[in-house]
Amino acid sequence: MKTYVCQICSHIAFDQAPVDCPVCRMPIENFENNPDAVKKPADPENLCAEDRKHLPVIQVNRECSLNQSAGYMDVHVKIGEIEHEMTSEHLVNFIDIYLDKKFIMRTMLTHRRIHPATALRLNVNSGTLTVIGNCTLHGSWMKRVNLSSPFTA
Ligand SMILES: [Fe+2]
Repeated sequence: MKTYVCQICSHIAFDQAPVDCPVCRMPIENFENNPDAVKKPADPENLCAEDRKHLPVIQVNRECSLNQSAGYMDVHVKIGEIEHEMTSEHLVNFIDIYLDKKFIMRTMLTHRRIHPATALRLNVNSGTLTVIGNCTLHGSWMKRVNLSSPFTA
């Protein structure tokens, strides 16, 4: 997986650098190819506490709570099966979300009375959702789910 990182806002793009950063709008020159942009657990079969504090947890609800019509899907995200701390020195400062590897949303977070979490409402019925949570000390961690089969990942 090729990953390119915006040196201005830390947004990660997949496969190729975009002409303009979809988050901060800075041009392609600010993207750096970094194959290690996304942190990976040392042993995916035996996650350590640091892995479990940083890997996003995604819950997909096909039954939208506010609108029961077709074409609505709720997605809830939290950072860490063990919730990540939120202090001024050490926090999850943003969560980026992608549909089929294309950026669709950033949630900016502060340490002020905020849990490391976000939610969105999609108008699709299928595709691959990617979530990246960025920790100010420990980097970017990713989780990817197939929206065709709702579950918690
Ligand atoms: Fe952290």
